Amino acid sequence: MSEPHLTLAPMRGLTTRHYRKAFTRNFQGLDAEMAPFIPTVNTEKIAPKLLRDILPENNSGHPLTPQLIGNNAAAFVTLAKALHDLGYKTVNWNLGCPHKPVRKKQRGSGLLPHPERIETILETICNESPITISVKIRLGVSDKSELMALIPILNRYPLREIIIHPRTAEQMYDGKPDLGAFALARQNLNHPVCYNGDITDLAFFQTLDKCFPTLGRFMIGRGLLANPFLCETIKSGNPKTENAIQRLETFHNDVLANYQTVIDGDIPMLGKMKEFWSYPSKNLSNGRKFFKKLKKATRITTYQHIVKEHLAAAEWTP
Ligand SMILES: Cc1cc2nc3c(=O)[nH]c(=O)nc-3n(C[C@H](O)[C@H](O)[C@H](O)COP(=O)(O)O)c2cc1C
Repeated sequence: MSEPHLTLAPMRGLTTRHYRKAFTRNFQGLDAEMAPFIPTVNTEKIAPKLLRDILPENNSGHPLTPQLIGNNAAAFVTLAKALHDLGYKTVNWNLGCPHKPVRKKQRGSGLLPHPERIETILETICNESPITISVKIRLGVSDKSELMALIPILNRYPLREIIIHPRTAEQMYDGKPDLGAFALARQNLNHPVCYNGDITDLAFFQTLDKCFPTLGRFMIGRGLLANPFLCETIKSGNPKTENAIQRLETFHNDVLANYQTVIDGDIPMLGKMKEFWSYPSKNLSNGRKFFKKLKKATRITTYQHIVKEHLAAAEWTP
């Protein structure tokens, strides 16, 4: 059996270029990354800051797919052209974002109840974008048959890949991913399919791999942020990690140093690092106490002291 292909999921505010670079320097097993969404804007002139996170000179070394969110086909094409000029060969269209303000504007998953609108957009973006398009999608907003209704439309376009997070938008991240709905969608789609959702350990990965032995493509978000050794574990089949705390500390120092080049001031910096620790702290033996203390830190020097002290006493317990 061939090795699984593992992609880092886009997570806005978390899997930034600074994070992705440090991740790649410190961990093995990942094959590709998708960048957090860039909103499409309806102007010919693209503000440079919109593309900063995906400028090739900032990339980690893994193949990176940029992602766009929006419902304006012309604006999508403008950005796809800019991405082509930067050397990208594929752009992902976000049809999964579950947040209400996004949905209300018929963006992200908010487009799922409107297949005719999706079709009109696909017609333009597939014909006019100079790069191929992939889609990241949920089952629907409240009704999980929305994706099924969309499949004949998706099948008509030359999409590179469909990444399915098998939950509805209303579920957000609650309940279990619906593997039956995933299987049915996959069976009916003509495109390559990637699975995304709740891969947090080797056991669940192996269950998925057993259920879908020919799938081979997986995207991992929160599980990888919480356990950055997870791709190594999946690829080796060995759940034991040597020197985990030391490696986590090195990774953390790398992320911190990367952010220190762009974030000024202790408070914004601490905001970023608290968000970072909200995931791996769950896998530390003293993680609750550690995170509670971290949340109270108001100076970066205090923060660094808390990190050092707690990591020195921690065990890695994924
Ligand atoms: C804080 C946060 C930010 C996210 N940002 C994005 C995003 O920019 N684009 C996207 O397609 N999905 C985004 N997602 C969804 C993830 O990519 C992924 O689909 C979801 O977390 C389920 O996968 P997981 O269980 O492996 O985390 C985000 C999720 C979270 C929790």
